[in-house]
Amino acid sequence: MPGRFITLEGGEGVGKSTQLRRLADALGARGLDVVTTREPGGSPGAEAIRRLLMEGDVERWTAQTEALLFAAARSDHVARVIKPALDHGAWVLCDRYIDSSLAYQGGAGGIGMASIMRLHEIGSGGLLPDRTLLLDLALYDAAWRELARDKGNLDRFGRKSGSYHEGVEQAFRELAEHNPDRYRRVDADGSEADVTERLLAAIEDLL
Ligand code: TMP
Repeated sequence: MPGRFITLEGGEGVGKSTQLRRLADALGARGLDVVTTREPGGSPGAEAIRRLLMEGDVERWTAQTEALLFAAARSDHVARVIKPALDHGAWVLCDRYIDSSLAYQGGAGGIGMASIMRLHEIGSGGLLPDRTLLLDLALYDAAWRELARDKGNLDRFGRKSGSYHEGVEQAFRELAEHNPDRYRRVDADGSEADVTERLLAAIEDLL
């Protein structure tokens, strides 16, 4: 049996990490070998690059440098973790992946989708997920940033402007529209259990 590669995407604070764990538990209970991981990061080298990306002043990197750093982190993560796990037949569940680069750097950052895909081709052989689950909770996204800002615990991306984050949301919506085979939009409203059920339904055809 070949492995399956599933990614979770969406704005900030929509519960991706919680849902990733719940989905992993549900798939594990069905007897599948499941590997969970995240981006930026997921391998020691990529986690080191993550710290460069997430810490420091909001203007620390240009959109171009950011795109290159994300592509470099992803390259290490794919080579050391994702590909080996897929080759072993595991289900790899990843919290963010190439679509975050497309939406944040490509869309909101203005780099363009084609350039991001060129970097992805060079860094990671263009590896795409079998399914990308877009957790949709647009209104909550902005409210969450406001709350986190009040608490003073926003990372570099959370501190970017409201219009940047609107650009991210817009780009995710367009990506979902243009890639209907790979993408499923999943309503992130409701109880944790309800959302997990929706996510499972959105990958049922791959099981
Ligand atoms: P998170 O771990 O809290 O999801 O934070 C990761 C942040 O990095 C989030 O704001 C989205 C951003 N990001 C990009 O801009 N491009 C990327 O390729 C990835 C993976 C994340």
